[in-house]
Amino acid sequence: MSMSTPDHYFAQQPTSAASPTTHEVKVRKLHLVLAGDRGVFNQGDLDWGTRVLIENADIPSGGVLLDLGCGGGAIAVALAKLRPDAVVWAVDVNERALEVTRRSVELNHATNVRVCTPDAVPSDLRFDAIWSNPPIRVGKDELHALLTTWLARLAAGGSADLVVHKNLGSDSLAKWLTGEGYAVERRASKQGYRILHVTQPT
Ligand SMILES: C[S@@+](CC[C@H](N)C(=O)[O-])C[C@H]1O[C@@H](n2cnc3c(N)ncnc32)[C@H](O)[C@@H]1O
Repeated sequence: MSMSTPDHYFAQQPTSAASPTTHEVKVRKLHLVLAGDRGVFNQGDLDWGTRVLIENADIPSGGVLLDLGCGGGAIAVALAKLRPDAVVWAVDVNERALEVTRRSVELNHATNVRVCTPDAVPSDLRFDAIWSNPPIRVGKDELHALLTTWLARLAAGGSADLVVHKNLGSDSLAKWLTGEGYAVERRASKQGYRILHVTQPT
């Protein structure tokens, strides 16, 4: 590992030495224990944007849900605990993030979460709803490709909720999505974090 260059949170295999942590987190009615590690987004603490997303999540019962870019698993575990009758898929390219998400799942006995790399999701699976604190820092082209890929996998009538800070381009992302034909509504805004509620073109 380079002593001076930390891993990007979206590295496929972080090179920093693993240093597993746990954080106790209260969000909505939930008391969660979230796992964390070096090289994984927010290292186990609950990001403010992620908190705003979870606090405003209107989760369909019994659905097939996706946490796109699950990091340490905060969104997936919260969705799974709030809707035990749903199946939540948690995907990430960062292999350490997947290990950490598996630990978060175990720590919270969230038996209805499936954790895997994006390419391991069955190709015919469609999602009733997607939640994401998306990886803005991968760059615009990669972010757009990621969203194009997964928004296309919404079931009929499905929707995606994306949390993006205004300083990280929430308005320009909303504009791009609108240009792609999606309907975009700003569902909530708190401390600069905006939730974009995205539905498919009709
Ligand atoms: C901003 S972090 C959010 C992590 C977590 N959901 C949270 O809210 O704490 C975005 C995550 O997206 C992941 N990511 C980056 N590119 C991805 C891709 N092509 N497919 C899936 N996940 C990706 C990163 O590895 C990172 O864990």
